[in-house]
Amino acid sequence: MIQVQVINKQIVIDQFTSIKFLEQGSFITCFTAIDKFQRKVILTVSDNERELQSRLKMANKLQNIHGVQKYYGNYKLTISDYNLAVLNQLFPRVFTNTSSILVGEYYNTNFKAYVDQLSINKKINVFYQIVQIVEELHSNDVYHMDLKPSNILFHNDQPVIIDFGLAVENQIVESSLNTSAYSPKHDVYAGQVFPDKFDIFCLGNILHEMLTKQTIFPSIIKDPKFQKLLQTKVGTLAANLITGMTKWDQEQRYPIKIILEHPLFIKSDLTSLQEDENNLKEFLNNYTSSQSDSSSIFVQQLSQNCSCSDFQDPYQELVLFNTRESLYDLAGSQQMSSIQCGILFMEDEDSLDL
Ligand SMILES: Nc1ncnc2c1ncn2[C@@H]1O[C@H](COP(=O)(O)OP(=O)(O)OP(=O)(O)O)[C@@H](O)[C@H]1O
Ligand SMILES: [Mg+2]
Repeated sequence: MIQVQVINKQIVIDQFTSIKFLEQGSFITCFTAIDKFQRKVILTVSDNERELQSRLKMANKLQNIHGVQKYYGNYKLTISDYNLAVLNQLFPRVFTNTSSILVGEYYNTNFKAYVDQLSINKKINVFYQIVQIVEELHSNDVYHMDLKPSNILFHNDQPVIIDFGLAVENQIVESSLNTSAYSPKHDVYAGQVFPDKFDIFCLGNILHEMLTKQTIFPSIIKDPKFQKLLQTKVGTLAANLITGMTKWDQEQRYPIKIILEHPLFIKSDLTSLQEDENNLKEFLNNYTSSQSDSSSIFVQQLSQNCSCSDFQDPYQELVLFNTRESLYDLAGSQQMSSIQCGILFMEDEDSLDL
C-alpha cells in the first residue's frame, strides 16, 4: 500500500518525486516519476484489476526476454476522501478508492518519432527486431493481441513492446477486444481468432505504415491487385512480405518463423531487382515445400511454372482462386491434381489481365 496526496496542487506519491502526467490510455493513465533509486519510471494507474494483473503476469512470464516492458513493482493506493476529491479535479476519472499502480521501466522514444527519421534499410532492420521479439513471445505461448505503433517504444535504439493488457496465452481465442486500425477486425467478427496470426496481421500492417505512412485500408487485402499495387510503392520484396502477413484468411498468413527468413531481411543496398526476384522465388519454394498439405504443393508447382515478375506471390493468387467459386476446394474434393488445378487457374488468370 502506498499513499497518494495532493500538496500545493502537486500530486505526491510515497517514494516518488517529480510526478508528471504523461498520457491517458483506454484503461490506464501513465505518469512519469523519479523513484528512490533516482531512476525515471513510468507509473501506470488503474482501477481495472484485470488489466493490471494481465500486464504484470505477462511481464513476469517474459522477464528474461529483451524488448518487453519490465516492472519494478505494483502497489495498491490509499487515498483519503479529501485527496480523492482534489485528485478528481486535477485528473478527472483517473483515481478511485480501488486504484493500484504498476511501477515500470521508462522508455523515452515513441515509435513514430524514432522510425520516421530512419532510412528504408534501417526501418526494415528495426521491423526485423520487432518480429524477433514477437517470435520470442509466441515461443513462450504469449500473444500480444494489440500490436500497434503506440505500443512499441524505443530504448537506446532498441524496440520495446509495452501494454500486455489484452495479451492471451491460449492458442485459439473466441474473439478479441482489439479492433484497432492495425488489427484484422474481420477475424474478430468471424468469432474465431488464431492469436499468432492476429499478431502477424498487426505486424504486417505496422510494416505497411512504416514504409508508406498509412495503415492498410481493410477491403484492399481481398483485392487480387493489392500486391501489384503495393509493389509500385514499396518494391517486390516488401510487397510480398506485407501481403503474406495480411492475408484475409488467417490460416494463409505467413507463420512467424517463415517471416524471419524472408528475403527482405537479407537485402542489401547492392542487391539488384533480378536478385530480389530470385531470392523471393527461392524463399517461396522453400516455404511451400515446408508445408505438407496439398495446397502448398499446388502453390509450389505454380511458383515453379511462373516467372517471378508475372506471378509475384502464388499465395496471393491462391486466395483469388479460392474466392472465385472455390475452384481449389472443388479440385481437392474431386482429387484433381495440383497441376490440373494450376492450368485451370492460369487460363482464368489470362482472361483477367492482372
Ligand atoms: N514504459 C513506458 N515508457 C514511456 N512511455 C510509456 C510507457 N508505457 C506507456 N507509455 C506511454 O503511455 C501510452 C499509453 O500506455 P499504454 O499503451 O500502456 O496504455 P493503454 O491504455 O493500453 O493505451 P491504448 O489503449 O492506447 O493502447 C503509450 O502509448 C506510451 O506513449
Ligand atoms: Mg497502448
